[in-house]
Amino acid sequence: MQDHKVQIDIRFPDGHAPDFCEVMRDGAWERIDFNDCEKIFGVPGLYEEIFHRRVDWQSHARVSWLLDNTLKQFNDRPQNLRVLELGAGNGVVGERMRELGIRALAGLDASSSARDAAHRDRPGLYDEYFVAEDGGISPRQTSAIQAFEPNCLLAVASIGCRHARAATLEAVTSLLPAGAWLVVNAGYEWSDGGMNYATVLKEMAARNLVEINSYSIYSQEDGRPYAVMAAHKRAPQVRPVTERLVAQAG
Ligand SMILES: C[S@@+](CC[C@H](N)C(=O)[O-])C[C@H]1O[C@@H](n2cnc3c(N)ncnc32)[C@H](O)[C@@H]1O
Repeated sequence: MQDHKVQIDIRFPDGHAPDFCEVMRDGAWERIDFNDCEKIFGVPGLYEEIFHRRVDWQSHARVSWLLDNTLKQFNDRPQNLRVLELGAGNGVVGERMRELGIRALAGLDASSSARDAAHRDRPGLYDEYFVAEDGGISPRQTSAIQAFEPNCLLAVASIGCRHARAATLEAVTSLLPAGAWLVVNAGYEWSDGGMNYATVLKEMAARNLVEINSYSIYSQEDGRPYAVMAAHKRAPQVRPVTERLVAQAG
């Protein structure tokens, strides 16, 4: 992973699990909420400084590890994947994907600041980067995404908690073919209309949209529980991938 360290004067409130920090800008301390991606992406290196060096969030590493291991279990390889990353941000996770050996990588984000930060901080990382303003994907973007032929949808720290809703995840999933991978993480305590984000793929599995291949809970360094999940998108009326593999092996 490249070192994106830059010199920033930054201070955190007392307490174990901060949700804002203050950054020195133009001679004054400016409060920046951790949810305010627009502001955070506006300062080069601030995202990495807050989430990786100070708060030590490990979602990018956890999800990369899960994807790598699940692929091995299914005799699949990163080189086979064409990844569409929902809520790609400034490319922290995309960088991990390239390190894993992913050859085709597209970002999709609701924020043009995120896209601009990705191009500024990691030029050339994404083959394509789509900005769906207000979370809405236009018909033209739909065609462009499908022309990219993604066979893996990745969403890291980008659903729940004022980011993409479960319905967005499902809408984007509908752009991928049956058999595609879905790899998602979400805070365990977040919910959307009574549905827990940590079980978002389980909800989709209950409706036969996906088949869960891996599901685990982990604790971030600040003690907050997260779920990380991998699944295959199912085709209607088609036997689950696991069953087909067992049948082939036997
Ligand atoms: C906490 S950042 C995570 C960025 C990156 N995935 C990472 O782990 O470093 C959340 C990202 O989700 C994006 N986002 C929020 N709502 C979204 C939506 N409805 N559709 C797509 N992206 C969204 C934000 O703009 C932001 O870039």
